[in-house]
Amino acid sequence: MRVSEQRQWDRLMQMARLGAIQGEGVNRAALSDLDHQARRLLLSWALPLGLAPSVDALGNLFLRHEGTDPGLPAVLAGSHMDSQPKGGRFDGIWGVLAALEAVQAIREAGLATRRAIEIVAWTNEEGGRFAPGCMGSMAFSGFRPPGSWDEVKDRDGLRFGAELARLLAAEADIPRRPLGFTPYAYVEPHIEQGPLLEAEGLDIGIVTGIQGSRWFLVEIAGKTDHAGTAPLALRQDAVQDMVRAIAALNALTADPQDVLRFTVGRVEVFPNSSNTVADLARFSIDLRHPDAAVLTARGDAVVATIQGAMARCRATVTETFNALPARFAPLVQEAIAAAAQAEGLQARPMPSGAFHDAQFLVPVCPTGMIFIPSRAGISHHPAEYSSPAQTARGAQVLARVLLDLAGR
Ligand code: GLV
Ligand code: MN
Ligand code: MN
Ligand code: MN
Repeated sequence: MRVSEQRQWDRLMQMARLGAIQGEGVNRAALSDLDHQARRLLLSWALPLGLAPSVDALGNLFLRHEGTDPGLPAVLAGSHMDSQPKGGRFDGIWGVLAALEAVQAIREAGLATRRAIEIVAWTNEEGGRFAPGCMGSMAFSGFRPPGSWDEVKDRDGLRFGAELARLLAAEADIPRRPLGFTPYAYVEPHIEQGPLLEAEGLDIGIVTGIQGSRWFLVEIAGKTDHAGTAPLALRQDAVQDMVRAIAALNALTADPQDVLRFTVGRVEVFPNSSNTVADLARFSIDLRHPDAAVLTARGDAVVATIQGAMARCRATVTETFNALPARFAPLVQEAIAAAAQAEGLQARPMPSGAFHDAQFLVPVCPTGMIFIPSRAGISHHPAEYSSPAQTARGAQVLARVLLDLAGR
């Protein structure tokens, strides 16, 4: 059984055309027309193989390779197809295409599996258009009810619920399935998005777990005024209070070890005019740490820190995402280690700094992830790159892991 390096690479490059941006990057927002097209392209490869498609209420898309014992829980493998607004060609989509390549290789080798293997493409992992990310996997696992994000709006004011309904209507030809089931195991292949595997000359990362993340949305309400005439002492300047809040958060999250990671990646100011004092400033907070106690303590102090920093404005803080640190199952880690060894590949255990849908599968079934090297560790950037050989090695390891788990 061998995966095809060329076929997988051709598919990756075809997918990269859907949302291509300058510098070889990709902008394929969740539930956009480009996302619809990417799903159709995936189906155009999967259906001729005889894989059975289905879609759930969150738009999570499944492709089933039947097992010889269809009543047994299936092995689930995949990732996501949406990208960051200035993202790369591999984050997410490689995991879906690797799962397809692995299943295709198994079928071409004429190998039957006891358990079914289902390929999954989760809806909105990135959270770049509709925050937060991982909506598809959170709903699948029961972590949040499916209607939780219906009112979340994108920059154009379009609602998540309406855009999801549009996708489901466009895919009315695909059989619907109930939301959520209990797989035998879940395996997510993904690019590392960090520098370790490349620096150490390794092929495969056996992911041990994922650090925790908390997201907040902060809105600071002030009052518009004329930039030339309004005395400073009388202003309620939302930008000035945002700057105070971010400075206070920098102090709250300072960590000499650089383990606690604090990011303000999104800032909006209204009315966004040079000579008008802003009456609204909005910014995002992304806070991460591998230790639940640290993440909980610092995260719980965010609201008071922001309130304490307000000079003249009023702040509203909403927590939009809370993913506790997750530990992956020995069952999956051992299967990956054995597969890498059988392929003569060099592997190491490692944690994930990025979050992934796999985090939400941990309470549902034995879960794990396979990492492949990322050039210079770059990700969430158009320069993101893994080579044809690296992507093929990852898919080959996945094929062995799926064959192993689906044979049990
Ligand atoms: C996922 O994209 C993350 O931000 O970790
Ligand atoms: Mn990803
Ligand atoms: Mn990502
Ligand atoms: Mn991600």
